[in-house]
Amino acid sequence: MEFSQEVKKATDPIYKKISKIIPEIEWSVHAPYIHKINQLKKEKNAIILAHNYQTPEIYHGVADVAADSLALAIEASKTKADIIVMAGVHFMAETSKLMSPKKKVLLPDMNAGCSLSSSITGKDVRLLKKKHPGVPVVSYVNTSAEVKAETDVCCTSANAVKIVNSLGVKKVIFLPDDYLAKYVASQTDVEIIPWKGICMVHEKFNEKEIFSIREKNPGIKIIAHPECPPDVIKASDFAGSTSGMIKYVEDKQPKKVMMVTECSMSDNIQVENPNVEFIRPCNLCPHMKKITLPKILDCLESETGEIIIDEEMIRKARIPVERMAAIGR
Ligand code: 13P
Ligand code: SF4
Repeated sequence: MEFSQEVKKATDPIYKKISKIIPEIEWSVHAPYIHKINQLKKEKNAIILAHNYQTPEIYHGVADVAADSLALAIEASKTKADIIVMAGVHFMAETSKLMSPKKKVLLPDMNAGCSLSSSITGKDVRLLKKKHPGVPVVSYVNTSAEVKAETDVCCTSANAVKIVNSLGVKKVIFLPDDYLAKYVASQTDVEIIPWKGICMVHEKFNEKEIFSIREKNPGIKIIAHPECPPDVIKASDFAGSTSGMIKYVEDKQPKKVMMVTECSMSDNIQVENPNVEFIRPCNLCPHMKKITLPKILDCLESETGEIIIDEEMIRKARIPVERMAAIGR
């Protein structure tokens, strides 16, 4: 695609914002896609919902909303667009479909999965419920529709503790993230029955790395996602969802910060926080990185990658997501 004068004129205001994080030579490749995608969005009354882990050219270039998984789920229920393109992973697109069943929801790469979501099936949840009769099931949104259909209430990392406490019970089944379960258990008196799922990105961090970064960078603030192992969270100054981490940086404006999470986060928020120095040992999510501008353009143009869930499944699986949305952050 050509970096024409028309493309340059239309995309210059975006590039001005992000010129510090994307080199000019790279921009000339992204800009034609950004221009075409933004035109198509208008023509088709489409919206792009992007997770905070998307690359800067998607996050700043084409996303109508860039947010954490809780905000994306809520946004999907409110949008007036006819088409929702999920720049994120499969469970996020499914959640959008549950929240907006009448809309066309597209995912630019159907192989964009999640190690947490693939760690558990509906059958596993039914067995857990048999083993612990009467104990409510709280599922992370990082699960399939099939698992959500067996769930009492969903949560994200932004509201997991609030959701668990809201049930007013002594015990809950909390799935599938074992580390998030441990984090929630450390913040509540409710007994947590966990599952063995792990986020392949956050499990790679370790406490030694954190100590070594602190030693080399006196005064640094270290903020971690609650999908990290417990020793990493303990060694950090703050734990929160991706949007919680962004808010921490925006509000506190630390001189130096390390975000213990997916790599794109620091790049994306460097733009609005020019005085913060980001130390970047980070890990890439291979699933999130499957989403690219050419794939977004392709799926929007041909309206392929549609999320289809049968009506009965939608009816069952949207209940726990709606309950979560009603409880909020
Ligand atoms: P949040 O944006 O809800 O913190 O989720 C993190 C995540 O792992 C999404 O894949
Ligand atoms: Fe799943 Fe972890 Fe990737 Fe998020 S970062 S999509 S939890 S594998």
